Parts: sequence; C-alpha cells; structure tokens
Amino acid sequence: MAFSKPFLEEVKRRNHITDVISRFVPLKRAGSNMVGCCPFHSEKTPSFTVFSGTESYYCFGCGAGGDVITFVMQSEGLEYREAVEQLAKMAGIPMEEDPYERKADQGPQVKKDRLFALNKAAARFFYAKLQSPEGAYAREYLQKRRFSDTTVRRFGIGFAPDKWDSLCYHLRKEGYTDEEITVAFLGRKGKNGKMYDLFRNRLMFPIFDLTGEVVAFSGRRLNEEDERKYVNTSDTPVFKKSRILFGLNFAKNESENGLILCEGAPDCIAMHQAGFGNAIATLGTAITGEHARTLSRFTKMVYLAYDIDKAGRKATMRGIELLNQVGVDTKIIHLGEGDSKDPDEFIKNHGAEAFRAKLSGSQGQIDYRIGEILSRFDLSVPDEKLRCSHEMAEYVATIGNRLEREIYASRAAEKLGLSPESLRNEAENKRRTMEKNAKKQEHSKITRDATGYGDQVNTDKLRFSSEAPHEEAVLGILLLHPELGKELAPLLEPEDFATSFNRKLWELFRTDFAAGIDPELTADGSLSPREIGAAEGYRAARATLGSNDGDTLRSHIDTLKDLRSRREYDGRVKEDPGALREYLALLRKQNQNKNSE
Ligand code: UTP
Ligand code: MN
Repeated sequence: MAFSKPFLEEVKRRNHITDVISRFVPLKRAGSNMVGCCPFHSEKTPSFTVFSGTESYYCFGCGAGGDVITFVMQSEGLEYREAVEQLAKMAGIPMEEDPYERKADQGPQVKKDRLFALNKAAARFFYAKLQSPEGAYAREYLQKRRFSDTTVRRFGIGFAPDKWDSLCYHLRKEGYTDEEITVAFLGRKGKNGKMYDLFRNRLMFPIFDLTGEVVAFSGRRLNEEDERKYVNTSDTPVFKKSRILFGLNFAKNESENGLILCEGAPDCIAMHQAGFGNAIATLGTAITGEHARTLSRFTKMVYLAYDIDKAGRKATMRGIELLNQVGVDTKIIHLGEGDSKDPDEFIKNHGAEAFRAKLSGSQGQIDYRIGEILSRFDLSVPDEKLRCSHEMAEYVATIGNRLEREIYASRAAEKLGLSPESLRNEAENKRRTMEKNAKKQEHSKITRDATGYGDQVNTDKLRFSSEAPHEEAVLGILLLHPELGKELAPLLEPEDFATSFNRKLWELFRTDFAAGIDPELTADGSLSPREIGAAEGYRAARATLGSNDGDTLRSHIDTLKDLRSRREYDGRVKEDPGALREYLALLRKQNQNKNSE
C-alpha cells in the first residue's frame, strides 16, 4: 500500500464524508443518515444514502458505494492516489512521502498534474500572443465582436499565431516533452518527424474545469477561408467533452435562479459580459446525460438557449429529456427575431435588457414540445393531422401530473382543431398502458435483483442462491459492528463462503481482524470501486433492516457451515455413491434437530 494507515486515517478524519459529499449533492437528513439524489445515475427520488456512523455512502438505486476516498474517485474520475492527494490538500495535510512514486513516474503515462501545468503554460502563451504586436488583428476581431478587455482578461482569451510550431517550440523550452504535448492535444508529430501546433491562427478560448484549472481549448478560426470553424481539444486524461460545461466554474456560484445553457464559448462569454453570470455552454450541440447530471448538482432549472437552427432545436429536445430524467425543469428561450441565430448575436443586436425579457418570457418545456410536434406536420393534410394527433397524445401521456395532462391536452386539441375530450381520452388510455408497463418492468427488475441476475460483481450469486444471502448478512453485520469480528473471525474459514466475491471479501476482512484492525472498504488496489459498492450494499442492507447482534451473526455463520457441508457432500456423492448414505443420514439428523427445537 502506498500510504500509511495513520496518514489515511488522518485524511479521512479531517474530511467528513457528509461535508465532502454535500459539496456535490444536496443532502437531507433522514433519521441518523443523510439522503440525496445519486450523482452517479439519473434519478428523481433520492436513493443515495450517507451513513455518518460508518462514514460511508451507498446508493440503493445503482449500487455505488464506499468511503470518502471512493466518492472522490467516482465523482471526479480520479485514481485512488489522486483522490487521496486531493482530500489531503483540502484538509491542509502535507502529503506523505511515497516510496513508490518515483517508480510510477518512470512509466510512459503522462501524469495529470503535468497536463494541468502544460495547459496553463499554453493558456499563458496564447494570452501573451494576443497582447503582442502579432495579435493585433485578433484584438481587432475581438473589438468587432464587442468583447471588452475585462472579458478577455476574465476568460483568459488568447491567440494562436499563424505559424507551424510557435507553441510547441515555446513548450519545449519550458521543459515539456513531445509526448506530453501530444497527449495534451496541443501538438503532433508530422511526417518529417517535427512537432507542429494543432491550433494555428485561431482565437483561443481556454476551457476551465470546476476548480478553475485550464483543461482544454476551443479555438475559433480567424480566417473565414479556413476549413474548420472550430478546433476543440479532443478528450485527454484531464478533459472529457461529454462532461465539461464551459463557464460552470464561474456560474456555479450564481446558479440558484437557474442556469442558462448555450452552444459554445462565444455565446456563453457574451452572456456573462451582458451581466448573465449564470450562463454556461456545452461545446456544440452534443449534450449528454453526464452534462445533465452535473447540472442537476447545481440547479433545479435550466434555460435552454441553443441556436435556432435544426441542430440547436434537436439539442433542445434532447436537453429537455435528459434534464427531465434528473429532475431538472427546463424553459426554452426563443430568440426568433430572424436577425440573430444565437444569444451572442441577439445581445449585440438588441441589448442585454431585451435578452432579459426573453429570459422571463421563456416558454415552459411542455408548450415547447407541443409546438415542436405541431411544427413537423402539415395539418391541412388529413393523414398528417391524424399522425400529428397520435404523436401529440403519446407526448401528453408522458406528462406525470394528471391535471397538467388535462390542461395541455385541451390546449393541444385546440391547435389541432380536435375536441378536447378525444385527445384527452387517447392520452389517458396511453397513460394507463404506460403505467402498466412501468409496473411490469419495475417488478421484473426487483426479481432480477433479488435473484442476483445481472449482479456483475458477485457473478456466482445466482448459482449459490441459498448461500449468498447468509454470506451477505455475515459480511454486512461485521462491517457494521466490527467489534463482533474479534471473537468470531477465527471460526470462519474462506471455504465457508460459496461465492468467490464474498470469499475474497472475507479473506481481506480476516487479515484485518487478525492484525487487530477493523475491516475497511477502500480502493487501495485490493478492491475496485464497484466491488466496494457491492460490499457497501451489504452494510447498507443491514443498517436499514434486520437485527445485527452477535446471536444473529452466529446463526448466519451456522447456516453457512451447514450449507458448506451439504456442498461438500454433494461434491463427494458425485464421485462416490457410497457418500450418499452418509449424506442422507446427515439430513435426517438435521431434521431431527430442527423438530426437537
Ligand atoms: P456555431 O457554428 O453556432 O458557432 O457553433 P458560434 O459559437 O456561434 O461561433 P461564432 O459566433 O460564429 O464565432 C456553436 C459551437 O459549436 C462548436 C463550438 O463549440 C461552437 O462554439 N463547433 C462549431 C465545433 O466544435 N466545431 C465546428 O466546426 C463548429
Ligand atoms: Mn455565434
């Protein structure tokens, strides 16, 4: 293990799990625990539980779980080491010397802190170039677009010169290797073996992560003849396009009245400059579930301000749906004046006040959806009108609240020239079918979970369906009450466990007990975050139901021993029919014992 036990204990003690998690997820008190909506899967009703007693968390919906280190790993996409480092830094604990670090450094991997440093160096370079004589025409361009000096400074806007290797040359001088530059997506080796810059003659928008580190760039062409309008950093170890939200590092503190989501850096920056500090952007129209989940950590309301073109409308529909799934309400801003395709142009043409009016006059998502469906059909053609009505009923049926369904069905019926009853009836019929199907699905999910089908961590669970619940009870109780383990641990052998995952857990626990320490679920290499989640599930199940005293534990252990002897007899019967008699005798004896109890 790379870190010493006292060091890790100090890190955990100084980072209370509820404090750390509530920075990401709003938590509410529920008895002695805290609950919230899970940051690792999409949900509207909270099934994510933080147990302050054991300093652990578990999501009853998706099975994610662990200690504070696992949480940081999972929520920030960090390695174990990095998560520990981050927690230590936050608590102001100096890092422990790590004898393994030098060895790890020699590997081919580029470390994340090098990439952060590299991106910062590149951002500084671009910024300086913009201010230099070379950047005169880029500054002019910015002026034409009405980006002020303050804005340029605040967003660190820069300029990539129209040369082949000015950045690569500079970075090498600063001590960065070709490999690091390549991994950071700032340069690449050409056929002639020389490194060349990937961003050339472009206005450079640095992209910041939530903590304000530069992790990537969005580069807009300055020569309209250039083939590609934008070049964005491809995914690197510190940047995932499907996850990042441009501007969120600024907007996160102004999100209580909702966030405004748009299509790219220039729109987002224009909104900030006009006084809308709650603007953020995806890089283009590819909005993802990860974006939605991130957003849901900061707000309950998103104004969608995508471009008015087809791609923008499609992204709006997708945004509504993805955000709905995570319980975030949406409103849609219509810029439709004809002269402005995006917020940047609109603000330039009409001013900040007009944009504010657009914001307060924005449309609810239901009206938007209804309008969108209507717009796709020619209602003067009977066949199209019929298809449109069906699709409308289909959509109205998805609205969760009955009263809302009534209201919107009438509204849509009017637009379609139908009687309100007919649309309402069709919608209600579809709704009933939907609810029935949902119940069926829910039911099959529950039985699937109960039988362990699809349990990807403990793959033996289905095969050993009698044993697994007792194994889980034993492990869960011991995690909850490790003091019971001191006495009972020596009684229990790994072979008493039938399923391989639970046996592996017990081997780890047993070693801990033998060393006089409580078993720990931490991702230091022996267990993966998913395995930790599964074990956390055992503990959570015991914490919410069941008695967890020594007697209960002992009876589960007894059952495991019984089941083990049956397994072993079964095995022998297959090889030696004579053992059958012995086995039957054992069964008889067990039955007698049960009857006489
Ligand atoms: P737009 O084409 O709408 O550009 O693309 P824009 O943001 O309004 O930029 P200006 O005002 O013309 O300068 C929206 C976003 O989509 C991504 C960029 O992030 C851009 O900001 N995009 C666009 C690309 O990634 N590649 C492209 O070729 C075009
Ligand atoms: Mn634009």
